[in-house]
Amino acid sequence: MALFTVAILLVILGAMWVTLSHLKLRAGYRKLPPGPWGLPIIGSLYMLGSLPHRNLSRLAKKYGPIMFMRLGCVPTIVVSSPEAAKLVMKTHDVVFASRPKLQAYEYLSYGAKGIAFTEYGPYWRHVRKLCALHLFSSAKINSFASVRKAEVGLLVKSVKEMASAGEVVDISAKVAGVVEDMAYRMVFGHNKDRIFDLKTLIREATRLAGTFNLADYVPFLGPLDLQGLTQLLRTNNEAIDEVLEKIIDKHIQDVSKDEANHMNFIDVVLSLMNKSNNFEDDPLYAIDRKNAKAIILDILVGGIDSSITSIEWVISELLRHPRVMRRLQEELKNVVGMCRMVEEFDLENLGYLNMVVKETLRLHPIGPFLVPRESIEDIVINGHYIPKKSRILINTWTIGRDPNVWSNNVEEFFPERFVENNIDLQGHDFELTPFGSGRRGCPGIQLGLITVQLVVSRLVHCFNWKLPNDTPPSELNMKEKFGLTMPRVDHLLATPTYRLPA
Ligand code: HEM
Repeated sequence: MALFTVAILLVILGAMWVTLSHLKLRAGYRKLPPGPWGLPIIGSLYMLGSLPHRNLSRLAKKYGPIMFMRLGCVPTIVVSSPEAAKLVMKTHDVVFASRPKLQAYEYLSYGAKGIAFTEYGPYWRHVRKLCALHLFSSAKINSFASVRKAEVGLLVKSVKEMASAGEVVDISAKVAGVVEDMAYRMVFGHNKDRIFDLKTLIREATRLAGTFNLADYVPFLGPLDLQGLTQLLRTNNEAIDEVLEKIIDKHIQDVSKDEANHMNFIDVVLSLMNKSNNFEDDPLYAIDRKNAKAIILDILVGGIDSSITSIEWVISELLRHPRVMRRLQEELKNVVGMCRMVEEFDLENLGYLNMVVKETLRLHPIGPFLVPRESIEDIVINGHYIPKKSRILINTWTIGRDPNVWSNNVEEFFPERFVENNIDLQGHDFELTPFGSGRRGCPGIQLGLITVQLVVSRLVHCFNWKLPNDTPPSELNMKEKFGLTMPRVDHLLATPTYRLPA
């Protein structure tokens, strides 16, 4: 009963606070961007629905490309045009370079000790620089080419066996398996261990990080844990921590035995832990065990699901568009031939494949709002006042469908649209930023693109595909579900036929 009374009191106080602060912000010279009025406490949360990128897209048509809404207690800016995205990710990048403290992020980053979910500041700059140099450099990524080749070879072998048996392949599951195996081998040096199943725990962490959490929007309800998410996050984090501790212990022992083995991501991160840095022993920059675990988690959570989801969407679009599939197979035949398989060194010569990937990410950006950002100071852009600590959602899903940029056939899957322009995926072109841009842009873009292009090209070069039960391509279900990434609702299923000489 006492708990109930406290909850009611909190709700009333919250309602008063939200209303007062809304009125204060709307008043006077501080002109917020246009946007819908919200209800007490929940603000405009009820407008998000199950596919927020689509619903916010509709609202942006009414209120414009820089829209204000209060989601619970959180002032939120929704950015929906390339020009506005450029203002946020380039012109005023530093002001918008932080991340909000979401509950799941706090668990995943061991309290802001990693890269992806850590607030902007000297520590984040330091860690990001170290990782760019030691983990995401071309030399480091290329040093794992043989690992990727071996894993994609195993994928082709297993699909070939299923093709001989005339079986339907669960492409989603196969792709998830190969991407996970590649990532775990790059990070830990192996991808199978009977003692634990880190993969299941990381999948659960990714799912939880993408689940809507009321406590992130109405913080005073957080302690009540109404959705039970806090408990799930804690349990998941404890289990991951226990496994990572064991792995770290083992790697420290192995590395001291054999310095030549010092090359997997985890060994690199552990070496950073022991290295004295230029900042002497300033605790602000120290990388201890917790930081090491947070960085490893960032790589697993940031790198795996995004690559799996991208590949799933590329193959889905190819299955829905036999003309594009045939043209890609033709390119592979011309560049690679039919007597050997695609290798990483072929990828730079596969221009049409590159267009197919761009077109897929235009229509199916993996993070439709990128990873949410937070402003670190008050700022006025385009005459709109944006308060400090606003949450920034860059709606790349909407931008990818802007008819002013992509002409009238925005909904059509048409890779040839990239023949006539130089738009690339590196974050220079704000019409297409599936990897983000600026200070917070994705540092794993090179690895991500190699993984996507290698897996897709192998599956398309080695096999012809048909949808099960003679389903016509146009009837393939393309529905998405919203989360940290935006995968298909259904697993993608198809029947392969091997097309290279045996
Ligand atoms: C196709 C694959 C991938 C896609 C589509 C993708 C997309 C993204 C996006 C949209 C962001 C947020 C950018 C922003 O806020 O501006 C991001 C950040 C990040 N990504 Fe990726 N990513 C991919 C692959 C990878 C890989 C393979 C890794 C690591 C091995 C990785 C590690 C990260 C990290 C650590 C961040 C956080 C950066 C920061 O906050 O400073 N990503 N990624």
